Amino acid sequence: MDIFITGVTGFLGGELLVDLSKREDIDKIFCLVRSANEENALARIKKVFDLHNDPFDRDKIIAVTGDLADDYLAENLKADSRLNGVSIIIHSAANTSFSKIYDSLVEKINIGGLKQILSWAQSLPSLNLFTYVGTATICGSLVKNHVTEDMSPDLSAKHLVKYSYTKMTGELLLKEYLPENKILVVRPSIIMGDTRNWVPRSYVILWALATLNELRLVPANAHSKIDIVPVDYVSQAIIKLVFNPARKYRVYHISSGEKACSTPYLSTEAIKDEFPEKPPFRFTDKKLLADMKKWTKGTGLLPEDSPLVNFSHYLEYWVENFGNNTNLRILLYALEPYIHFIELNQVFDNSRLLEDTDMEQSVPAHIYLKTAGKYLNRINVFEGAIDP
Ligand SMILES: NC(=O)c1ccc[n+]([C@@H]2O[C@H](COP(=O)([O-])OP(=O)(O)OC[C@H]3O[C@@H](n4cnc5c(N)ncnc54)[C@H](OP(=O)(O)O)[C@@H]3O)[C@@H](O)[C@H]2O)c1
Repeated sequence: MDIFITGVTGFLGGELLVDLSKREDIDKIFCLVRSANEENALARIKKVFDLHNDPFDRDKIIAVTGDLADDYLAENLKADSRLNGVSIIIHSAANTSFSKIYDSLVEKINIGGLKQILSWAQSLPSLNLFTYVGTATICGSLVKNHVTEDMSPDLSAKHLVKYSYTKMTGELLLKEYLPENKILVVRPSIIMGDTRNWVPRSYVILWALATLNELRLVPANAHSKIDIVPVDYVSQAIIKLVFNPARKYRVYHISSGEKACSTPYLSTEAIKDEFPEKPPFRFTDKKLLADMKKWTKGTGLLPEDSPLVNFSHYLEYWVENFGNNTNLRILLYALEPYIHFIELNQVFDNSRLLEDTDMEQSVPAHIYLKTAGKYLNRINVFEGAIDP
């Protein structure tokens, strides 16, 4: 059996690739990688295996150079006869930026790039399954509390960021290209860290926790529910679904659900002991974020009656910790969409996944993140804010 996968140099795709490479029923895994040539692409893939000394089988893992932004990608893939026997595609690549400055690129990659992959997939005689890695956040911001798979896609949904809009549009595109019985949609919630006590494959969402850790005064509801799952859980779940021909649904959340969801309070409690020198975490009303941003532009801009003046201890700590207010301002702007997501209090129903696989409930983030505290210092929160 031959598989084609995108996004292998990313957080989830890397985990999926390593897990898939261990399966003996797979002959070849073709990996779409952005690179000038196949040698460099292969070197990028090798780094994925080297991170935790996983064995890298050069005969099994094959690099296919390509860019989702390339309007000729589908044609190039169609012309590549090595891919003729591909029966499973897993499309994990995406531009996951929440920043407005990347909106048009996010659209180009997540919609235009997906169309390229689908157009090629449509031409494959041996295709059995197209797995689209979506996101549970396509439900938008009007849906609160308990979210089921059937609530999305909904064209009237309000999106906090272009990214989730493009992922929703992507899901809607699938049926235009492929018959329903060849489509599997997996929608992870928030993927953060790894349950194994080792260097995570990416600091991508841990960045947000690292930023809260630096701020310590957090403008968000401490007890809002947040649905977080570790990358190793998501990878295992996707593979179990892909290789379960008896699965009953076309769409699955991969999420913590109610039983294993976390909260900002619990997640920050899990890491706080690593940083005894920092002030304790304090949670305030989300409205204070606007005043925090004003404060970074100059104390004169802060309204006299702002509740922020009651947190002078934290303002002094910020001056000491961030030095330069511009840095803090960049950080607050980058964090803002995450704060909005936190406040949605959304938990994604995971009963379909538990019903159709032998996956257990995921480990709650506030349990497995206890070991992640030591990696937070490695994250340059400013770099992450500029290039999210
Ligand atoms: N992380 C989460 O919390 C989360 C939650 C729900 C769903 N998801 C979904 O899970 C999937 C993987 O997310 P992730 O967190 O692993 O993202 P990630 O770490 O940012 O990885 C993105 C991957 O996409 C590739 N990519 C981006 N632009 C490309 C292009 N123009 N051409 C070819 N490849 C390109 C990247 O390649 P380069 O290395 O070349 O940049 C990288 O391999 C995405 O579909 C995302 O929507 C993620």
